[in-house]
Amino acid sequence: MSFTIAIDGPAAAGKGTVSKAVAAHFGFAHLDTGLLYRAVGALTLKGTPAIDAARALVAEDLEDPALRTPEVADAASKVAVIPEVRAALVDFQRAFARRAGGAVLDGRDIGTVICPEAEAKLFVTASAQVRAERRFKELTERGLETSLKAVLADVEERDARDRERATAPLKAAEGAVVIDTSEMDIETAVATAIAHVDAVRGGLSK
Ligand code: DC
Repeated sequence: MSFTIAIDGPAAAGKGTVSKAVAAHFGFAHLDTGLLYRAVGALTLKGTPAIDAARALVAEDLEDPALRTPEVADAASKVAVIPEVRAALVDFQRAFARRAGGAVLDGRDIGTVICPEAEAKLFVTASAQVRAERRFKELTERGLETSLKAVLADVEERDARDRERATAPLKAAEGAVVIDTSEMDIETAVATAIAHVDAVRGGLSK
């Protein structure tokens, strides 16, 4: 039986951590859909046109360690506005969502466009300031030199691009439970997410 959990939200809100923990808790497969856009973005930085890159994407493209750099994040957000790029990635995501045994997908448009029929929908968010502080800490811990000001500007620029694009903009899906992690620790965010999924599963089994 399939069961899809759609988790959307802006960068550095805690979406990835919540998604991994929820998937582990329920024994579901997890897909970080941002990696698909990052892989396409990384290929464009090497000179491949974005639409060609999206249509020819293979599993190994998702394993490039460079996908986690701010340059690739920026390229990902740029290719993500192109409708043909998004269209080329739909089938893979929908097939993943409906795999037997359950799936968690996290991204920007999972509950709105990719899986509007998902059994459980969550929107994990936080203020831009808090997200920038988290991202800054993460980047400096990884040895990348940057400033909080630059990271905040980057977060705000990427948010605006993701929220204002015409195709599949970032927004909470109808019926999504919103988890604002600005003043919430990650354990509470995970517990809130799990409680919502449990409530849906309880309702379905009645
Ligand atoms: O979640 P992330 O930071 O890895 O995502 C990188 C970019 O990819 C993000 O700025 C917007 C885009 N993206 C998207 O448009 N739709 C998704 N489902 C996931 C990511």
